[in-house]
Amino acid sequence: MIVESIITTLGPDGVAHIAPMGVIWRDDQPILAPFRPSTTLDNLRHNGGAVINHTDDVRVFAGCLTGRRDWPLMPAEQIDGRVLQGALAHQELRVDRVEEDEQRPRFHCRVVHEAAHGAFRGFNRAQAAVIEAAILVSRLNMLPRDKVEREMAYLEIAVSKTAGAREREAWEWLTARIAAFYRGAAAESAR
Ligand SMILES: Cc1cc2nc3c(=O)[nH]c(=O)nc-3n(C[C@H](O)[C@H](O)[C@H](O)COP(=O)(O)O)c2cc1C
Repeated sequence: MIVESIITTLGPDGVAHIAPMGVIWRDDQPILAPFRPSTTLDNLRHNGGAVINHTDDVRVFAGCLTGRRDWPLMPAEQIDGRVLQGALAHQELRVDRVEEDEQRPRFHCRVVHEAAHGAFRGFNRAQAAVIEAAILVSRLNMLPRDKVEREMAYLEIAVSKTAGAREREAWEWLTARIAAFYRGAAAESAR
């Protein structure tokens, strides 16, 4: 199973990095699979640890994809790492081994500490739609424009019917990013 999560890592300078990632869970062991090149990958190699954060504030997912990475963090308990302050739960990891790959190395990890901070308040379709839209935004360079527009039109139905204020804000950030991307692409091709 893959669980869409917020991964926090620390760089050599001690600077925290935050990125959405799909964590692969196999036999209760998490595997992180960052594409090359990425800061998360460099930090995992350097520090050998990471934190998986679970949040229902989908603005963190949308924010990381739209230049808003400044989310409040607090120190992890058992590793040299940072925990997202709004997380409902988190897991602290140590890397056991790295499976090298040209495109996407896999970091097989072990959970050394976990904690719950808040209650799960149930499923919301707009939250799922924002996460799907964030994935589309992370792949704008690779996906055909008509696919992106078709899928956004479908996802927008769940947002308009079920979103709260946080989901609406996250949705606006993502739609603005997509519009800016295609405006930039149009300007490029007119040159
Ligand atoms: C829900 C979601 C899941 C993602 N999962 C992954 C992943 O498993 N691996 C990856 O490399 N990028 C993934 N991405 C894209 C990264 O978050 C994004 O490219 C990020 O900037 C990673 O690079 P960085 O560590 O340099 O910030 C995902 C994005 C979203 C919205």
